[in-house]
Amino acid sequence: MSPVRVLVTGAAGQVGVDLVSTLRGEVPPGADPQWQPDGVKIVPDEFEVLGVARRDLDITDRDAVTRALALTKPDVVVNLAAYTAVDQAERDVEACYAVNADATGLLSQACATVGAHFVTVSTDYVFDGEKGSSYDEGDQPNPQSVYGASKWAGEQRCRDEDTIVRTSWVMGVRGASVVHVIADRARNGSNVRFVDDQTGTVTLAADLARALVTVVRERPGGVWHVANGGNATWFDVARFVGHELGRDDEFATPITTAALSPAPLARRPRRSDLNTAKWCSRWVAPPDWRDGVSRLLRDRVAS
Ligand SMILES: NC(=O)c1ccc[n+]([C@@H]2O[C@H](COP(=O)([O-])OP(=O)(O)OC[C@H]3O[C@@H](n4cnc5c(N)ncnc54)[C@H](OP(=O)(O)O)[C@@H]3O)[C@@H](O)[C@H]2O)c1
Repeated sequence: MSPVRVLVTGAAGQVGVDLVSTLRGEVPPGADPQWQPDGVKIVPDEFEVLGVARRDLDITDRDAVTRALALTKPDVVVNLAAYTAVDQAERDVEACYAVNADATGLLSQACATVGAHFVTVSTDYVFDGEKGSSYDEGDQPNPQSVYGASKWAGEQRCRDEDTIVRTSWVMGVRGASVVHVIADRARNGSNVRFVDDQTGTVTLAADLARALVTVVRERPGGVWHVANGGNATWFDVARFVGHELGRDDEFATPITTAALSPAPLARRPRRSDLNTAKWCSRWVAPPDWRDGVSRLLRDRVAS
C-alpha cells in the first residue's frame, strides 16, 4: 500500500514538531509509546510526511497555499499553524484573525479543491467557562478573548466533513513550557504562586500528536475534544511538579486571578476542562495528566 501523504502546517510549533516525528514512526521525547489510542502501532513507511514551518508556507498567503496543495497533493492536511499569543492578541486583533480564522477557512477550501481531508486544532478558550462542569462537543461556544473568538471563527469557516480537534493547556518537552518554569523554581529552591481559580485539562503535546495520528488514519470529521485525563488548576500543576521534585506543600501558594499583577490582557475561562467522553467511547482514553507531566519532567529537551 502506498503511504498516506500528510501535510502538516505550523510544523515548527510545539505540537508540530511532535506530530511530524510521530508520523515518521519515531517516539518523541515525552511520548508514552504504550498509548496507542487505535491499538495500531505506527510503522515508519505508513505516512509520507511534509512538515512546513511558517518560513516554508505562510498560511495567510492564498496563492502560496493553493500552490503548495496543488504541488504536494496531500491525502490529509493537519493545520497546527496558529496565532497563539493569547494576551498579545487583544492588541493585535487583525493579525490574530488572519491566521486563526481566515487562513483556517482558506486551508479548508484548498483541501476541498484537491480532495484532501482537513484537520485543524482548536481550543477550550472557545468556551466562556461558566457552565460549571466540563465541556463536551455539543456545548455552545461563547469566547471571552480575541484568541478564543478567532479560533471559534476558524471553526465556523470549516466544512462539515473537516475534523476539528479541540484541546487545552498544551505542554511540551521544549522551550519555556510552564512546567519547566515551575520545575526550575523547584530545583533552585524558590517558591511559586499560581492561580487556583482557573480549571482546565492539561494536554501533552506528544499525546496530542499521537491522537492526531489516529485522526489522520480514520478521518472522522466533526468536532472532537482531546486532552489528558483528569482536570486541574494551575496551582494543582505547580504543587504536583513540586512534589515530583521533592518539594513540600510550601513550594506552591494558591492565588486568585484577580491578584495577578499586572493583570493579564485576555480574559480566561474560569472552568473550561474538556470532556473527552466522545473520544474515549471510540478510542483508548489518553493517559492521566499527572503521568504526562512526569514524562515532561523526565524527558525535558534543552532549548
Ligand atoms: N498551546 C496551548 O496551550 C494550546 C491550547 C489549546 C489549543 N492550542 C492549539 O493547538 C495548535 C498548536 O499549538 P502549539 O502549542 O503547537 O502552538 P505554537 O507552538 O505557538 O505553534 C504554532 C506555530 O504556528 C506558526 N505560525 C504562526 N502564524 C503562521 C502563519 N501565518 N503561517 C504559518 N505558520 C504560522 C508559528 O510560527 P512562529 O513561531 O514563527 O510564529 C508556530 O510555529 C494551535 O492551533 C493552537 O491554537 C494550543
